[in-house]
Amino acid sequence: MEQQALHYQLDPVLVNLCDKEIQIHCGPEEPKNTRQGQVEECLKRKFDALSSVECRRHVALLITAVQIDIQADPMLHRACAIDLVTFCKDVPPGDGRTFRAKLCEQINRNYQNGSRYFSNGQPESFFVTTPIFYVNAEPHIGHIYTAVIADSSARFNRLIGNPVTFSTGTDEHGLKIQQAALCANNEPGQFCDHVSGLFRTALKNCEISYTDYIRTTESRHKENVHAFWETLSEKGYIYKGKYEGWYCTADEAFVAEDQTTLMKLPNGQEQRVSMESNRPVEWFSEENYLFKLSKLREELRRWLKSGPAVIRPLRHYNLVKSWLDQELIDLSVSRPNSRLSWGIPVPGDSSQTIYVWLDALLNYMTVAKHSQSEMNIWPPSVHVIGKDILKFHGIYWPAFLLAAGFEPPKSLLVHGHWLVDEQKMSKTTGNVVSPQSCINLVTATGLRYFLMHEGVPASDGNFSTKRMVRIANSDLADGIGNLVSRCCGKSLNPLQMRLGVSPSSFESCGSPGSDLLSLLERTPDIVHNEYQQWNFYKGIDQVMALVRGANGFFQTMEPWKLKKEGELDKLNATMAVTMETARVVGTLLQPIVPSYSERLLDKLGVPQEDRNWDFARLRWNTTETALGSQPAVLFPRIKSE
Ligand code: MSP
Repeated sequence: MEQQALHYQLDPVLVNLCDKEIQIHCGPEEPKNTRQGQVEECLKRKFDALSSVECRRHVALLITAVQIDIQADPMLHRACAIDLVTFCKDVPPGDGRTFRAKLCEQINRNYQNGSRYFSNGQPESFFVTTPIFYVNAEPHIGHIYTAVIADSSARFNRLIGNPVTFSTGTDEHGLKIQQAALCANNEPGQFCDHVSGLFRTALKNCEISYTDYIRTTESRHKENVHAFWETLSEKGYIYKGKYEGWYCTADEAFVAEDQTTLMKLPNGQEQRVSMESNRPVEWFSEENYLFKLSKLREELRRWLKSGPAVIRPLRHYNLVKSWLDQELIDLSVSRPNSRLSWGIPVPGDSSQTIYVWLDALLNYMTVAKHSQSEMNIWPPSVHVIGKDILKFHGIYWPAFLLAAGFEPPKSLLVHGHWLVDEQKMSKTTGNVVSPQSCINLVTATGLRYFLMHEGVPASDGNFSTKRMVRIANSDLADGIGNLVSRCCGKSLNPLQMRLGVSPSSFESCGSPGSDLLSLLERTPDIVHNEYQQWNFYKGIDQVMALVRGANGFFQTMEPWKLKKEGELDKLNATMAVTMETARVVGTLLQPIVPSYSERLLDKLGVPQEDRNWDFARLRWNTTETALGSQPAVLFPRIKSE
């Protein structure tokens, strides 16, 4: 294989101390991993050949590796950084200390300058959405669950350096809302203002960091819906016809005859219901506009074939695929104004009102058109949705977009439902859990943590207040809370300092230190992958395993004894290692429990600019940092367990 010399210029500060320029020989442009493998091997070979007198040269090579890594592999960076500091210990005393400090500074600078998760160096714009919520009823924790999933991924993407657009809002048109307003004896506009306000407050109280809150009654949205309708119409996808069939107002959905069944009511009468949702259907026979859905089957199949990642989890991908194995029938996309007045009129025909799902789905496009981002953010990166609205997002929405000549969304993330006593939470069943009641009990942190810890997208979850309290107490108050108060408490940390940490800190703690070191090194990358795959619960499990590891380490080291026996080096090492682990834990948990993580990082005196994902890993550091002055209690135990 042809050898190619790669030249890396050392930082001018170090040129005086190290050799001028280092050449590393490795293969020509190849898949990154092979190239890095070669670089790493080459470095190792050189290291083996070096005697301790050549210490500086050795160090220079490591710096080079660190610089390579900035554009490449984080694993290599870490390996080199560890070797680097270890090796620096062999630098002869005298100039050694300054030398070491400068090197550490350099590594930190390198970390700050490079985003290690984008090898092409380009941040990717990330556009995530929640469904817009019906305003017929108040928010419940099912709604909040959707929003927290979207929020965690928005926060995670911000941490890894991507510009984020994150939209949420309210779905305010349609028969369902018209009827709800009537029941509340209120004019629909006022009714919507009120309930939309309740959603906004609930989302704020749950620390949802949306960038746009869209309401379908806004004029920017109406304009977009009109423009889109006209495009569909010009492209020949809309025609006037007659719709005869069943309609479910609760789902705002047309239901085929074979998808309905008769259900016995408690009074002995029979009611026809939708088999999917068990909600009543009514027979409609009316003139309206139809959308040529039947023409889009092949295009939809092609979209789906772009990979199973389009719809996750796999079972929902398979479900949509199975729907597309059958014929699609054209979809009614308007209702006579005499039946439905609360909606957006069809352009040029005010006797008809646009079907509420077409209106609602277009909220995503209204947001994109009004995005503050400099980038063109279409298509959406991911729509987070509950499984009950899969057909609308997995069939109708991409069909509308394809017909109008737009790209369909890159992906859908489908989650299960929260059940109470094995039944879906709903206003009609009367088993709704309000987010505010949970916040009052366990705070927004406790609620978010519970939803993300217990919520497994592929299945339904059973909500239990008892369990929510138990989990918040055991993980947030005991697990992480203890870890932080142990290392920040005045008895073992009288100077209230976060100590610098180096490989020798771990080494001097013996095998408990090396066990924790390997856990601490492994965890961030695993968490990164789990978060990226939407497996937040798995990421949290990994963080909690690290917390248990650190608490176990602390217990084994018995720092209170070390203090008594005057073993100050070991005591400092124990404290430094524990604090570094707590810092990593706090950084990793930011997408899940933002304000809790903020308190943790504030307590540890971590500067704001040191909280992005580049810092979500072990970092050697020689400086001492003052702890924050706030109390070390991050999450007071909840008594009502
Ligand atoms: N308005 C439509 C969405 C239009 S998006 C273009 C709608 N609204 S909804 O208020 O009924 O539901 C909003 C979201 O909350 C959906 O993703 C739905 O799946 C989710 N949830 C509603 N009840 C839920 C549970 N009990 N559990 C989990 N999520 C649930 O559908």
